[in-house]
Amino acid sequence: MIHLNGEFLPEDRAKVSVLDRGFLFGDGVYEVIPVFGGRPLRLGEHLDRLARSLAEIRIPDPLSREDWAILIDELLARNPGGDRSVYVQVTRGVAPRDHAFPEAIEPTVMAMVNPIRPPGEQVLTQGVAAVVIPDHRWSRCDIKAITLLANVLARQEAVDSGATEAILVRNGLATEGAASNLFLVADGVIVTPPKDHSLLGGITRDLLVELAEANGLPVMETRIPEDSLQGAQEIWLTSSTREILPVTRLDGRAVGEGVPGPVWRRVHALYQDYKA
Ligand code: PDD
Repeated sequence: MIHLNGEFLPEDRAKVSVLDRGFLFGDGVYEVIPVFGGRPLRLGEHLDRLARSLAEIRIPDPLSREDWAILIDELLARNPGGDRSVYVQVTRGVAPRDHAFPEAIEPTVMAMVNPIRPPGEQVLTQGVAAVVIPDHRWSRCDIKAITLLANVLARQEAVDSGATEAILVRNGLATEGAASNLFLVADGVIVTPPKDHSLLGGITRDLLVELAEANGLPVMETRIPEDSLQGAQEIWLTSSTREILPVTRLDGRAVGEGVPGPVWRRVHALYQDYKA
């Protein structure tokens, strides 16, 4: 069942007008909230980020925080299953096509549930491949906008070259993946870029920083020059749906020993405990 504008509908009846500004302009924002053991992980943080994304693009928040939580609860009850993710999307609604905002805004609210497959045995033992490519996105990557063409092209470029994810580089700095945040381990220190307009502040990223700090692992939030990727001991990519992926091949060359590293094993275990 899909939630659309206050109703729960089967997928084939959940329809949106072709004049929806999400369809015409990509004028909207979204969230992806992982649900493990029936419990949304870090729901408060995801709802905070949704409120922030909406405010940044000037769509009035259509629901109170409490009503968002109720909607998500009800959606999960109507879509039972194992590990899942809730996808929430809000667009600026339906209006005759004009770039400027319509006068009266009635946002379109859609939410659905998708299964999540946690990283399989092969990923956990061998890691994944990534490629480094230029970042062609706009300059407000901190907003979780549905306008994802550059991310789509980047991910496809990775897949076309046999890799799992693309690591994006802008002005000589590696910022994040096409749909994930970037970590590396250098000289025994966990490094991730600081949150600014060049990347999405991931909820998984923040959780990892918190877990590492709480467990005495050294973490630094600092910029990552592209040329420090090749010498990194470990590289990881994090997201709500893919957890913490160890990258063991970068542009066809081994990262560190070419297998998931010891620091990854530690944070992976901390994350598994946290979500359990
Ligand atoms: N994407 N950076 C980008 C560009 C992303 O799209 C995502 C997540 C992340 C990781 O954020 P989080 O840890 O909050 O999931 C970083 C989601 C999963 C998606 O688009 O499906």
